[in-house]
Amino acid sequence: MIDDIAAVNRERWNAMASAKVMFSRPFFDFTREEAAAYIHCDTMLGDVAGKDVLCLASGGGQDSAAFGLLGASVTVFDLSDVQLSRDQDAARSHGYTVQTVQGDMRDLSAFTANTFDIVWQPYSINYSPTVEPVIAEVARVLKPGGIYHLAFANPFALAMDNGWDGNGYPLRDLYRDGEDITRFFPIWELEQEDGTVVTVERPHEFRHTLSTMFNTLARQGFQFMQMSEWVRPDIDPEQGSWAHFTQCCPPYLQTFWRWGGS
Ligand SMILES: C[S@@+](CC[C@H](N)C(=O)[O-])C[C@H]1O[C@@H](n2cnc3c(N)ncnc32)[C@H](O)[C@@H]1O
Repeated sequence: MIDDIAAVNRERWNAMASAKVMFSRPFFDFTREEAAAYIHCDTMLGDVAGKDVLCLASGGGQDSAAFGLLGASVTVFDLSDVQLSRDQDAARSHGYTVQTVQGDMRDLSAFTANTFDIVWQPYSINYSPTVEPVIAEVARVLKPGGIYHLAFANPFALAMDNGWDGNGYPLRDLYRDGEDITRFFPIWELEQEDGTVVTVERPHEFRHTLSTMFNTLARQGFQFMQMSEWVRPDIDPEQGSWAHFTQCCPPYLQTFWRWGGS
């Protein structure tokens, strides 16, 4: 069942994927070593060969390529058919098979309970207006002891203006849970390989506060394992650049959780 927000976001993600945004470029040249580093095999996941993995709201042919190359049994679930086609492109190119399923992350009824060893969700939960249905569905489809990787927006970064004003990056908005922040930068300009620029409407994106994220995960039976802040690596970033902004206020938090239910 797709509601109005998901219908709009499907259209906008299809447009972004067709314009080949960064998140829609499959990792055709991935090596096994790069794949293992990308999904933190050394520190968090171990050997994923033979594991049942759900890449959730994760289309585009990057995450699935990492798991597929390392011998996992991969299913990708995403709202955008264009994004899912990139996962099939990556699988064909590397020579593994991938199952792709289209739908809204708040409804994983396509899968039976206790199906997956790992649910891998890159930055995408902020495209859902609420997080409880998504996290409850992940708890349902994970096997007991299964691992959930979840990236989400640093909600403080969403209250900041990433335009340098000479002194800093002003906080421009209240810290409101569930707010649709799409009105900031509603149009994105995407440069194409041939130098032309395509404009797309930004998908609906929502702020979820830290208390909402952590308390919902705890309520659904997830035990905290690890968190890291994503920043753009750059040794001496120029004030006002994206790298500088991320080093002042990391925009993405990457977390690992173990599901403790039965
Ligand atoms: C930033 S991309 C993340 C995927 C990418 N592979 C990566 O490495 O970060 C966000 C993805 O979320 C998907 N998405 C947005 N809203 C969704 C929803 N309600 N249900 C399922 N997928 C959704 C988009 O189609 C898009 O593929």
